[in-house]
Amino acid sequence: LGKTIKNAVGSIERLRFTNSGTEATMHAIRLARGFTGKKYIVKMEGGYHGAHDYALIKSGSGTMTFGVPSSAGVPEEVSRTVLVGRYNDAESIEKLFKEHRNEIAAVITEPVLGNIGVINPENDFLKSLREITEKYSSLLIFDEVITGFRFGFKGYQDIVGIKPDLTTMGKIIGGGAPVGMFGGREDIMAHVAPQGDVYEAGTFSGNPLTMAAGIATLDQLKGKDYSSITNYATRLEEKLNSLISEYNIDATINRCHSMFQIFFNKNKVKDYTGATASDTEKFNKMFHMLLEKGIFFPPSQFETEFVSFAHSETDLEATVDAFSTVLKCL
Ligand SMILES: Cc1ncc(COP(=O)(O)O)c(C=O)c1O
Repeated sequence: LGKTIKNAVGSIERLRFTNSGTEATMHAIRLARGFTGKKYIVKMEGGYHGAHDYALIKSGSGTMTFGVPSSAGVPEEVSRTVLVGRYNDAESIEKLFKEHRNEIAAVITEPVLGNIGVINPENDFLKSLREITEKYSSLLIFDEVITGFRFGFKGYQDIVGIKPDLTTMGKIIGGGAPVGMFGGREDIMAHVAPQGDVYEAGTFSGNPLTMAAGIATLDQLKGKDYSSITNYATRLEEKLNSLISEYNIDATINRCHSMFQIFFNKNKVKDYTGATASDTEKFNKMFHMLLEKGIFFPPSQFETEFVSFAHSETDLEATVDAFSTVLKCL
């Protein structure tokens, strides 16, 4: 499984398996700190990297100023080492680097935000992150737990041509079994124990069941025509957009290849502030009405719809029909 991932994802020269995406980002962050000898991590407002202390930083302006943990139980000393920047705002990131000169170990981001709805990178944001991290001798970590192998037999990084230093993955590469992976530059990965002094371990890491499930899934995916799921999502988006205009609903759709989200917001959503300005009550109503009609969307405005190879033309029609009724009611 490791060889398959290495061959498919350009930046991954060496990797380690974990049991979840949470573990993968936790170890990647520790490795970045161990490798650079620096303390701070930058994450994006609204970016989700699992449920460990270094990732659970509440998004919002107070958080950005004071580093207040979003979850009870995260010591303030820990949350203060995680700085929050604004996705799609390279200036906000560079400002953090200027304020914490030579002290930032890494920037970690989902290349496409997928945990506050879908938000696409704009204005060469990912390229700017690469340039800024290089300029300040910091690492760039792409959390591809959602995007890895989702839009093609590769990472999103290979689609946009930006090479991070470290990458995390999960979900798809385990084929439904518990999995996570962190990997990247050989010289950085060499710092992981036992070769190096950054400790990482897990009783079930790389367990045979998960590895077999991952190999089987990636074997299946290798021959697949990913353009079919992108095409499905594109047509669904078009049809939903025409219903949105027909019923004059304040809503906008963000889509990245085969993943999308409807925001009940009349403005285009390109960051956390835009996403949280959406009408979540309306989304919840839509969710329940769709569920009654047999269409199971993720139950939150701040999640993402994924098209899978299992979706059929019949599913597409049923989804559009259900939407038509639901949007009319809304
Ligand atoms: C981008 C991203 N990173 C990390 C995680 C955490 O993965 P896990 O739930 O396997 O711990 C998730 C989970 O949804 C995720 O979406």
